[in-house]
This record gives sequence, C-alpha cells and structure tokens, in this order.
Amino acid sequence: MRILLWLLILQWLLIIFVMLLFIMCVVVRIIRHYWHFPIPGPLTRVIDNPIRRRFIQKPGLLAERMHLEPGMSVVEIGPGKGSYTLTIAERVAPEGRVFAVDIQEEVIERLKQRVEREGITNIEPMIDNAHSFSFEDESVDRIVAIACLPEIPDPVGVLRECRRILKLDGLVSLCELAIDPDYPRRKTTKRWAAEAGLELRHEYGSWFVYQLNFGKAPLPQSEGS
Ligand SMILES: C[S@@+](CC[C@H](N)C(=O)[O-])C[C@H]1O[C@@H](n2cnc3c(N)ncnc32)[C@H](O)[C@@H]1O
Repeated sequence: MRILLWLLILQWLLIIFVMLLFIMCVVVRIIRHYWHFPIPGPLTRVIDNPIRRRFIQKPGLLAERMHLEPGMSVVEIGPGKGSYTLTIAERVAPEGRVFAVDIQEEVIERLKQRVEREGITNIEPMIDNAHSFSFEDESVDRIVAIACLPEIPDPVGVLRECRRILKLDGLVSLCELAIDPDYPRRKTTKRWAAEAGLELRHEYGSWFVYQLNFGKAPLPQSEGS
C-alpha cells in the first residue's frame, strides 16, 4: 500500500516536471521570437548534465556519427561545458585538433580551465564569431553545432560561413534536441542548409533528438566553388 502511494506521488511529480518543462520551453520560445540573446554562460552547465549525456544525447554516439578520423581538424560552435568537445578530441587525437569557438568569454575561460585541469592538449578554446570565422577557406574537416545553431540570429549566414571554411570532403554536423526551447524541426534545419549551399549526407535519430550531416553542394558556375 505504502509503495503504491509513493509510486503515485512519483508519477505526479514526473507529470508536474514535464509540464513545467513544456511551459518553460513555450515561454522561452515566445521571448526568443522577439529578442535574440546567447544563453547565459552558467546555464550551459545545466544543459550539459548526466541525464542528457547518458540517455538523450550520448557524446560517444554523436562523435561516431561525425565520421571522425585521427588527425582531423574540427570546429565546434558553442561548446558549452565541453563534454562533447572532449569526446570529439579523443577521436581525432593525437594529431587532430578541436577548435571550440564561442562569443562568450565566460564559456571559453571555463573550458580553458577544464582542458588544463584534465591535461588535454588537442582542444583549443577560442573566442570567435560563427558569423565571420577567423579560419581560412577550406581548412577544416568537420564542423559541429550541438543545440546551438537556432540560437544564433542568422543561421543561414552561419552555415554559409561553415561552407566557406569546410574542406571539399568535409562535413557539417547539426545536432538538435526537442527540449531545447530553440529546437528547429528537421525540415527547417534542412532548408537552412540548402539555402547555404550544403547538401544532406547522413541523417540520424528521431524527431526528439537528431543529427544531420551536410557536405558542400556544388554552387552554380557563376557563384564559383
Ligand atoms: C545552447 S549553448 C550550446 C550548448 C552546448 N553545445 C551543449 O549542447 O551543451 C549555445 C552557445 O552558442 C554560443 N553562440 C551564440 N552565438 C554565437 C556565435 N555567433 N558564434 C559563436 N558562438 C555563438 C553562445 O554563446 C552559447 O554558449
């Protein structure tokens, strides 16, 4: 009897939690519609939590779906706490490098401290703006943005920049999950990519959490390569 009561309480707590999460997502989405701002640094720590990493968006699986090889150069836009960054860095080690870029100094400083603390030598946290990367044309093998692209005011502009710095055989990997208030549907992400001159190469996941890989689509002759 007592166990049943506890199960009932637990069930209601879970329902209330899911409802609160839903309401929060709707409110944030409405605010975001009128006012774009980067997620505050401390919140990136909340998003990158053990439940997400274990059950929802596993770093190992995400890295596997990026088709990484040792020696590759990777740009990660908006690395947050860096859990995904660390896994990607392991896969491209020892020669490969991950450039973890963000516009917020606080995010980069925290990641620098983590990287130093954990003795990782192939991650380079740096301030950079995805609207105008400081990387050379056709210089990187992989670009990854995890729950990040829809937060940036001009996603198509960012993807055009990705196209510019991506090697001919490179991939841009876009990963989204539905509990993110900025979550875009697959078809929205695909439309942004197509507008930026990228074409779909691999598609993974479900409506709830997905990962899409894009490569360079040839541009019309008049626009160059
Ligand atoms: C939602 S957080 C990323 C969370 C992290 N990828 C994760 O999955 O845990 C998005 C990050 O993108 C960064 N960002 C926003 N606009 C940017 C831009 N134009 N260039 C680079 N980073 C940007 C924000 O500062 C923020 O830290």
